[in-house]
Amino acid sequence: MTSREHDVLLWGATGFTGRLVADYLAANRGARTIALGGRNRQKLEAVRRELAASTPSFADAPIVVGDATDPASLAAVCESARVVVTTVGPYWQHGKELARAAATAGCDYCDLTGEVTFWRWLLDELEPVARRTGARLVPSSGFDSIPSDLGVAMLAAHARERHERPLSETRLVVTKMKGGVSGGTLASAMGIADLARKDPAARALLRDPYSLSPDRARDLSNDGPDPMNVRHDADLDVWTAPFVMGAINTRVVRRSNALLGHRYGREFSYGEWLSFGPGARGFAMASGANAALLAFLGAAALPPTRKVLERLLPGAGEGPDLEARQSGFFKIAINARMVGDSTRLIGRVEGKQDPGYGETAKMISETAFGLLEHPGDGGVLTPAVALGDRLISRLRAAGMTFVIEELP
Ligand SMILES: NC(=O)c1ccc[n+]([C@@H]2O[C@H](COP(=O)([O-])OP(=O)(O)OC[C@H]3O[C@@H](n4cnc5c(N)ncnc54)[C@H](OP(=O)(O)O)[C@@H]3O)[C@@H](O)[C@H]2O)c1
Repeated sequence: MTSREHDVLLWGATGFTGRLVADYLAANRGARTIALGGRNRQKLEAVRRELAASTPSFADAPIVVGDATDPASLAAVCESARVVVTTVGPYWQHGKELARAAATAGCDYCDLTGEVTFWRWLLDELEPVARRTGARLVPSSGFDSIPSDLGVAMLAAHARERHERPLSETRLVVTKMKGGVSGGTLASAMGIADLARKDPAARALLRDPYSLSPDRARDLSNDGPDPMNVRHDADLDVWTAPFVMGAINTRVVRRSNALLGHRYGREFSYGEWLSFGPGARGFAMASGANAALLAFLGAAALPPTRKVLERLLPGAGEGPDLEARQSGFFKIAINARMVGDSTRLIGRVEGKQDPGYGETAKMISETAFGLLEHPGDGGVLTPAVALGDRLISRLRAAGMTFVIEELP
């Protein structure tokens, strides 16, 4: 592994999110060697020139050209690097061959997928390969699903170490958030909607709360299908609607619990919600937002309305501008109960930039640096299992908040 040419290779440096990840990697690379990869040399050279304007020593950063449809070029990409970070999505469409090349080459890998279907494909196709070669594949290393996965892991460790208790009912509430969306993220969501419309097996997979379980038959069954309705959170006294990213995050968190031998608890149950505040106003806003989300999903599924949406929403390479990214932020409260103890635990996870872009660039880059520095066994892993509290420490040092409060 140490003889590989590049410490970290960013695959997809020319995309909207890839460009932000390139910025973070260049600015924080220290003594690490970083290569830029993608399908278009001229665009990659333009990205390198822009990066060199603020980081002059980046002017001779290596460029690696390949194509998501050309497995030989992807094998060369993964054989040249110790860790490959990929922002080439939708992953179901463009990500499979790169992940296969990484697993085969024993190259550590992290991505930004929010697609349960892609995750399941990785597990079914590549888990045995990655175990054999020692490659650690860590999908969902951005806003989906690091705050959820590491936030719950942090609370479970606290409950175990300070109270010698497992967790029971645990709810993540996004208390405040401001952020935008890019073309690739929308394309990924539309891709999932298309797959669900055409393929009954994909629909069943998306409905299954334990779809990423390492052993479905022996996993827990504490959680049912995702909620569809608004709910009053009695602990916080706010009205909440189901959080759209819960569809991926809850599966990742449940997979972490299973991979860790149900260390979070055998009574552990988990859901994700978005807060709209207290009282009648909170109820009206939560109901309105929930209805709007259901209407959007309905419009995305029907070809005529889908065409209108595609004209109105950001396309490939587009996303929130610098001002929107810098004024973005997120605040999450994870409320957990312990078995046989009335103490309430609250885990707070917060970021100071747009969650899906500024903070996501930080999260996936720190995951890559963590993989580089901390060895471990191969497989298809969650962020909590691959790096756990080492990644929490890295993200704290990079400005994110991870704290725990106790309420009697
Ligand atoms: N989990 C999270 O929190 C989170 C946050 C942000 C984004 N994402 C995900 O990140 C992904 C990218 O989103 P985005 O908005 O940044 O997309 P984007 O701007 O459209 O970028 C897509 C990238 O893929 C490259 N690409 C497309 N086809 C390729 C091929 N055949 N071979 C090699 N490269 C190819 C593009 O290269 P060219 O420049 O040459 O076209 C570009 O670099 C999406 O899947 C999105 O869901 C997730």
